[in-house]
Amino acid sequence: MFQDRLVSYSGVQPSGNLTIGNYLGAIRNFSLYSEKYKCFYCVVDEHAITVRQNPAELRRRTYETLALYMACGLDPEKNTLYVQSHVHEHAELAWILNCFTGFGELSRMTQFKDKSQKHADNINAGLFTYPVLMAADILLYQTDVVPVGIDQKQHVELCRDIAERFNQIHPDTFTIPEPIVSKSGMKIMSLADPTKKMSKSDENANAVVYILDDRDTIIRKFKRAVTDSDTSVRFAEGKDGINNLMTIYSCFTGKTMEEIEREFEGHGYGDFKLAVGEVCADALAPVQEKFHALLKDKAALEAQMKKGAEEASYYARRTLGKVQKKLGFVKI
Ligand code: TYM
Repeated sequence: MFQDRLVSYSGVQPSGNLTIGNYLGAIRNFSLYSEKYKCFYCVVDEHAITVRQNPAELRRRTYETLALYMACGLDPEKNTLYVQSHVHEHAELAWILNCFTGFGELSRMTQFKDKSQKHADNINAGLFTYPVLMAADILLYQTDVVPVGIDQKQHVELCRDIAERFNQIHPDTFTIPEPIVSKSGMKIMSLADPTKKMSKSDENANAVVYILDDRDTIIRKFKRAVTDSDTSVRFAEGKDGINNLMTIYSCFTGKTMEEIEREFEGHGYGDFKLAVGEVCADALAPVQEKFHALLKDKAALEAQMKKGAEEASYYARRTLGKVQKKLGFVKI
């Protein structure tokens, strides 16, 4: 809490083209808090370098992710939108929190296990301590709620443990944050392998629908989505592909699973897949239009980055100062 307002905080890595998983599981939900909460939404470029990035692409995606935040409805007058590396307090608090985090705790993070398998040639210390940087992001702003997809819940829970441990030794330092996982879009699955999360780093572009894909591409990808040998549109165990498509359709239309089953009674998978593609393309069209307009004005995006960094720094400085004082660091 800051100045009697609850705080919402979240972040997205500019490590790939953003997907409808990022949109439905996270970004779309960020604006739900804009009216009542003090909101901070960050482009977490420091997280992205835990796997090798092409510098020119990282730079381009940092601008794009900020533009997408705004195109998805985040008003920079109501939300603090900024880039992580512009606020040096994140890295400083991460170091301090490293000293309050157990090796065993970090070893249990499923994302570390997955990513170290995927990037076996580069299992660096940053990949291992990444959840501590994420805890620093959240705790710097005395955050109450963290809207995320389910894959990030474990990291937010670790952040709570770190904050509670710190508070036990140095009382009243951090607000304990709550992860908020939206029920519908918590985990959008790959279209090629619906047992796997849809991920921006997937090498198979047909497995993933990007927020910026054009209409024909979106419809083609949904047409090719892996389903099963059954023919009726039903949400049921063992029908991972159809369950995923029904979840996506439900997220875009607001319809329940029962309503969707009734709507497509007597229709085959082909009709249903086309309908999913169409609602998705319709919903993303205005986001894409806004995004392209915003991206044309790089100077305006840079001004926004600067304003966001100044706002965020004000809060980050206050928390870091408090932590340093409690630890016994000498102020000069
Ligand atoms: P990242 O960049 O992988 O993903 C950004 C957000 O999108 C959600 N998400 C999904 N939701 C549903 N279905 C999917 N297939 C899907 N794929 C991604 C993620 O859960 C996330 O909410 N470590 C974070 C970024 C981060 C952060 C933070 C988040 C850094 N600091 C502080 C919250 C608070 C990450 O890598 O997200």
